[in-house]
Amino acid sequence: MEDQLKDPSIFIGLQGKNLISFGSGQPDLAPPEQVFKILPKYKQFKYGLIQGQENLREALSKQYEKSNKANFVITNGASEALDLTFRSICQPGDKVLVHKPYYYSYVPLLEKNHLKPVFTETINGKIDFNDFEEKAKGCKAVLINSPSNPTGRIQEISILKKIEKTCAEQDITIVSDEVYKDLIYERKNYMLHGDHVVTINSFSKTFAMCGFRVGYLYSKDKNIVKKTIALKTHTSMNTSIIAQEMAFEATKAPHSYQQEQLTIWKKRRDLIYQGLLDLGLDLWNPEGAFYVLPKVPNPRKTVWDLFKKHKVITYLGDWFGAPERIRLSYALDQEKIEEGLKRIGTYLKA
Ligand SMILES: Cc1ncc(COP(=O)(O)O)c(C=O)c1O
Repeated sequence: MEDQLKDPSIFIGLQGKNLISFGSGQPDLAPPEQVFKILPKYKQFKYGLIQGQENLREALSKQYEKSNKANFVITNGASEALDLTFRSICQPGDKVLVHKPYYYSYVPLLEKNHLKPVFTETINGKIDFNDFEEKAKGCKAVLINSPSNPTGRIQEISILKKIEKTCAEQDITIVSDEVYKDLIYERKNYMLHGDHVVTINSFSKTFAMCGFRVGYLYSKDKNIVKKTIALKTHTSMNTSIIAQEMAFEATKAPHSYQQEQLTIWKKRRDLIYQGLLDLGLDLWNPEGAFYVLPKVPNPRKTVWDLFKKHKVITYLGDWFGAPERIRLSYALDQEKIEEGLKRIGTYLKA
């Protein structure tokens, strides 16, 4: 029944013969091959540092200007980094500004930590700075996600700079979820800067290592780093040490690894964007990440019927604060995208 579509858990991990899944946002491309090479020789088994293994933090600090290993905490994916950050910087009842449409975990994550999400609408997936500035007043933090899941849109650099300025002036923390920063088709990532910024990142998307669960937070504010370590000490303790060692190997992957992946993602982006336009759907051209968010009539029925009658998984836009739309991830090969588009076309024509 359509009312089973209360959240994505109905589809996560679901596999089946003849099933085409545009559901989960996990890369199907392989991690760099050197991450597996350490496995036969690996012999560590004791607890690791709560903050994260030194070699990995050291390697990360080389990617962030004027940083050092003390500025990083290695976490169980970006998911834990987000949770620890909000619990460290906020008090129950604090407001956090989120731009719509948003990643489906943001709202439950804030609410379960007794925080109040406040929303700013976007125009074609782009932040409307006037609305943003107005709604940011009185917020403890703002959560920025560029490139965005689910829109695939990136925020303009001029707007990101304005956000930096207004948040610094009003002492608002920017939590910048940059898990798709290496998957941008149009330009290089612009990293939000400043003492009041906490950057969230992950090995899940850039290096296709989602199941290994390695992410991190980066902050110039040592107090935030200290608080997150104190929380992690009594919750998950260290992030898997073997996964961290694999992530460390991934940091040594040649640049060509990311370039090759990006070329594949771009081809798929072009295929699905044009395919959905040809079916008459209204959607934004993704500039990064690997999602499209077309408008469809009666999204709940569409998602249900596509699944039940055509064996195609798509996600309900409602989960992302976009009730008129559905989300498709194009983390699947060209043949499957083509077959999926064919089935969607058959459904829409009927
Ligand atoms: C925007 C965004 N943030 C965070 C995450 C969680 O990533 P991780 O696997 O690193 O926990 C995801 C996963 O899809 C995401 O899309």
